[in-house]
Amino acid sequence: MIVTDSAAEAFSWSRRMRSAGLSIGLVPTMGALHGGHFSLIERARAECDRIAVSIFVNPTQSGPGADLSRYPRTPDADLAGCRDRGVDLVFTPASSGRDAVYPPGFQTWVEVQDLARPLCGERRPGHFHGVATVVAILFGIFRPHRAYFGQKDYQQARVIERMALDLRLGVQIEIVPTLREEDGLAMSSRNRYLSSEERIRAVAISRALFEAERLYRSGEVRGSVIEREVAARLGPDSGLRLDYARVLDALTLEPLAGDRIDQAPGGAVVAIAAYAGTTRLIDNILLGSEDRGRPGGA
Ligand code: PAJ
Repeated sequence: MIVTDSAAEAFSWSRRMRSAGLSIGLVPTMGALHGGHFSLIERARAECDRIAVSIFVNPTQSGPGADLSRYPRTPDADLAGCRDRGVDLVFTPASSGRDAVYPPGFQTWVEVQDLARPLCGERRPGHFHGVATVVAILFGIFRPHRAYFGQKDYQQARVIERMALDLRLGVQIEIVPTLREEDGLAMSSRNRYLSSEERIRAVAISRALFEAERLYRSGEVRGSVIEREVAARLGPDSGLRLDYARVLDALTLEPLAGDRIDQAPGGAVVAIAAYAGTTRLIDNILLGSEDRGRPGGA
């Protein structure tokens, strides 16, 4: 396994692989790798000839005042986990070395419009701007055939999919299902910040999503009804502080036409953001998309 902090080296590696006729899969991450990240890596391993993982705590996607030095870092375990899963190259520019990713004199930003507006776009201004830009740079370095993103960050995956289509980047975006802890909590690097009490409360988020799924399966197709039910389960009694609970069209991330999940061509996404203490957690579930094809795949 090649480990490099040099974009030039990663670029020439990927060029060699392409000229040898090998397909390249890229898994972008911010490190502190857990089961969710590894499920992306395993999927890439199964579908591509060569796979690269990037580990970079991107400074341009967190709001002003965010303390990047607080982001969890587990470099040795990350590399061991990648090695065990047959990763070919790990690109690990030191996060302090912003220039290792953003070229000196950098002044170009990628801004996806409508898909980046609601949900986390509204709550974290500038966030998707930073995400889309760093992912575009990584695509420039690796020119991957496929790139893997988690459904856990559903809006992020859809924003990147749109960017890749709009800019004709020629990379196939694969969205991998959310990996969960046994009790349902979506795996996340942030879960390690939770106290044991917060960890217990956090399970209410996935429970609310599973309840939304149960309601839909039992015939409830009105987005507003499901949205209210989800929000009610995450009220003050839950010990969480709800940031948002929305049921939106899964393809456009706009309000459902006629409030009907069953009329939306790609189904609906139920998206939640909630604070457990000071830790912001997000999760989502898709309703009615399995019978109508993959979101974005229409
Ligand atoms: P990070 O939070 O490290 O996540 C890297 C990838 O792992 C993302 O595509 C995310 O959706 C996926 N992931 C996280 N938890 C998951 C889970 N429980 N199940 C499945 N996939 C999961 O997301 C980022 O980094 C950054 O924004 C990045 C795309 C790297 C750009 O900086």
